[in-house]
Amino acid sequence: MSERAPYIAPTVGQTVHADQPARSAEPCTIVILGASGDLAHRKLVPALYNLALDGALPSPFGLVGYSRTPYTDDEFRAEMKEAVSEHSRRTPIDAAVWDRFAKSMSYCTGDFGNLEAYQKLKTCLEADEKRTGAGGNRIFYLATPPSVFPIILGNLSASGLLRKGTTAPWSRVVIEKPFGRDLASARSLNEIVHKSCDERQVYRIDHYLGKETVQNILALRFANSIFEPLLSRRHVDHVQITAAEELGVEGRGGYYEEAGVLRDMVQNHMMQLLTLTTMEAPAAFDADAVRDEKVKVLRAIRPIAQNEVGRYTVRGQYRATKLGGKDLPGYRGEPGVSPNSTTPTFVALALSIDNWRWAGVPFYLRTGKRLARRLTEIAIHFESIPHPLFGHDTGTDRPNTLILRIQPDEGIAIRFAAKVPGEAMQLREVTFDFRYGAAFGEQAPEAYERLLLDCILGDATLFTREDEVEASWRLMDPILQGWKAQPRVSPYDCGSWGPAEADELIARDGRTWRKPI
Ligand code: BG6
Repeated sequence: MSERAPYIAPTVGQTVHADQPARSAEPCTIVILGASGDLAHRKLVPALYNLALDGALPSPFGLVGYSRTPYTDDEFRAEMKEAVSEHSRRTPIDAAVWDRFAKSMSYCTGDFGNLEAYQKLKTCLEADEKRTGAGGNRIFYLATPPSVFPIILGNLSASGLLRKGTTAPWSRVVIEKPFGRDLASARSLNEIVHKSCDERQVYRIDHYLGKETVQNILALRFANSIFEPLLSRRHVDHVQITAAEELGVEGRGGYYEEAGVLRDMVQNHMMQLLTLTTMEAPAAFDADAVRDEKVKVLRAIRPIAQNEVGRYTVRGQYRATKLGGKDLPGYRGEPGVSPNSTTPTFVALALSIDNWRWAGVPFYLRTGKRLARRLTEIAIHFESIPHPLFGHDTGTDRPNTLILRIQPDEGIAIRFAAKVPGEAMQLREVTFDFRYGAAFGEQAPEAYERLLLDCILGDATLFTREDEVEASWRLMDPILQGWKAQPRVSPYDCGSWGPAEADELIARDGRTWRKPI
């Protein structure tokens, strides 16, 4: 038996450091393809500026914008400055940091489909690498609609900009979601990607993995000893995962009509939350070990057969609603959406995981737009107590829930039964509540900051691997096909928790959706 260390009381707020060397970033240039677009303005450049502010970018460093919109270098810098002022989590802009950061930027105009334009990009990039001194390490960030991913990858490699292999100087490619729209298209995109680069050069983004609270699911489970032993069929009755949004499709009607809620939220973000909550402990916190475990869980999830979608899934679509004195349009009234659209904006699903840890434990997932409020959480509901010692009418017999609040109000809560003060043995559910903001007192970095830095560092742990993305699509395909065979959605009011059928889905198993506190 190992000897226990003598008890030494920790000082409050003591930090536990992972036994890892500090990570250091090699000089490189990031080329944003689609630099005039929304993602670059709202997320990518503000994230890079925040990394510059923290001194986390390599030195030297280069940033090259590429898209069809013509800008001079100075116009591009000025536009990015405006974008950063508007979207950075830290404002006002620090003038000295901005000046240095702006010097690392340049811009090249060109078409995604035209090989000659890539030759021009190559000339610009090489000149720029000399100017900044960043050398030849390159990251190509595909911030474009997915329809042009194949042509961009083909042209990057035909022009010699993207070198296959991981020898120095290295090239990496970041690919935005959606990665495919079903299993066949994801596979064929993977094949196209692998013509231009090795899997180790590919960074498929799911921004949920960059969220601090999502990474904290792993910390809670594998950096503590008291939670993990409880997380299995022995103690867990069921798990609910909710990702509710208050907003509607916000001008993205055209994209959403093609995607719908399953492709937009479930195949990627919800599956990440589910796998991180249920995977086995990896042998190490590295890209292969973590992703191996996630893939194992995905493969253990029982696919919902096409003819069973009516039993295990509920689709909804928000309808025009008067809310708080305001007339909110229904999904069918959004720009770019067909007036007869049957695209779901809400889904509830019941899933099971066929492995030793989770057999028999239902997982209820729900996500949708225009719901009662913005809330993403994982609620692990524990088994009922074996015998009601204090009588049946003094509280619930299943009082314990562990709640991982992903956003907003990031934190962890535990619900348990406590005695109400007084003579009677009356019980009530109360909450232990941990809030990140209050505990650490500092603002968490944005998801894109963490993910861009990881890519610069060559750490793919928080990116989706080829087999992972395919395993997830394998689960979505039969649902999409079953829905296609019966194209109908249940309308729900904006500001509600979705259609009544979602309540029935879980009520059928004798359970109810958790009322968020
Ligand atoms: C995106 C989806 O991937 O995630 C959007 O395309 C959705 O439709 C968004 O609104 C949700 O992200 P977050 O970080 O706001 O929860």
